[in-house]
Amino acid sequence: MTVPHLLSTNDLSVEDIIVLLDDAASFVTSDGLRAKRSLELGGKRLVLAFFEPSTRTRLSFETAADRLGASSIFFQTSGSSVEKGETMRETIMTIQAMGFDAIILRHATNGIHAEIASYSKMSVINAGEGSAQHPTQALLDASALRERFGSIEGKRVAIVGDLRHSRVARSTADVLLRLGAEVAFCAPDALAPQDHQFSLMTRFPSLDEVLPWADVVYLLRIQRERISDDSIIDPLDYRRKYAFTIEHANSNPNVVIMHPGPVGVGVEIDEAVLDLNQCLIHRQVTHGVAMRMAVLRKLLNH
Ligand code: CP
Repeated sequence: MTVPHLLSTNDLSVEDIIVLLDDAASFVTSDGLRAKRSLELGGKRLVLAFFEPSTRTRLSFETAADRLGASSIFFQTSGSSVEKGETMRETIMTIQAMGFDAIILRHATNGIHAEIASYSKMSVINAGEGSAQHPTQALLDASALRERFGSIEGKRVAIVGDLRHSRVARSTADVLLRLGAEVAFCAPDALAPQDHQFSLMTRFPSLDEVLPWADVVYLLRIQRERISDDSIIDPLDYRRKYAFTIEHANSNPNVVIMHPGPVGVGVEIDEAVLDLNQCLIHRQVTHGVAMRMAVLRKLLNH
C-alpha cells in the first residue's frame, strides 16, 4: 500500500486546500484553540526529525498530535548516529523499523523529502525543506488570513525581505495566488528571488512604496544560515527600506502584518508592532496548531 505524503503545496489542489482550511477553522476559537481533544488518531505514531532548528513547527506538530490522540517522539539529530556518518537512507530505514506511521521532517537540502518519500513506508510530511518548500506554513498562513478577511480572493499581499533563501515565500505565494490573492514582492537585489515563480510578479523598490498598494505585508527574516557572505547586506540600508516600524503601523492602521517567525526584532520589524491588533504573527502560530491537526487528520486517518 502506498502512503500519502505532504511534500509540497503542489501536492494539493485548490479543493484540497479549502477542505484543510475548513477543517483547521473548526479547531480555533476567537482567542485560541478549542479545548476539546479527540482520540481520533489514537494508536498512530509520529516521529519528528528536525535537522534544522525550530520552535513553532516542532511544537505545533507535537501539540496537534497530542490533541488528536497520536503519540509523537522527537528524534534529536544532534548526538545521534548521523554524527557517526550514518547515511540518511539508513537513518530513515532504522526509524521506519520502529513502527512509525509518519515522519515529520525538516532538512536544509532541497529535494531530500521527495527522495525519502520514494522509499519510505511512512508518510513523509515536509516541515521545512531548504529554500524550496514549507507547505504547512503556507496553509496556516492562508488559514490566518482567511479568518481575518473572510476571503483571500482579491487581497493584495506584499512579501518583503529575503525571498531568495525563503521556502516560506515560495510555498505561501503559491497557495495565496491559487486562492485568488495578488502577490507582489519587495527585496534588495542581493535577496531578490531569481526563480521563474517570481519572474512575472510586480517588484516594489521599498516598503514605503508598497504600503499604499498592500492589504497585507508579509515580512521575512534574513536567512543568514543560507548566506555565505553576509556583507552583501547593508544593515542600515535594509532597515531604512525594508523594516516595518511602529511609524509604518501607525500611519497604515488597516494593513495586516504577517511573518512566519522567528522574527528579527530591530532588523525587519519593531518589537512594538508585534502586539498590535493589525499584526497576525501570534495568530498565525495558533493557526499552525489547527492546520497541522487538519493535515494529520487528512494523511493519517485511514
Ligand atoms: N515558521 C517556522 O517554521 O518557524 P520555526 O522555525 O520556529 O519552526
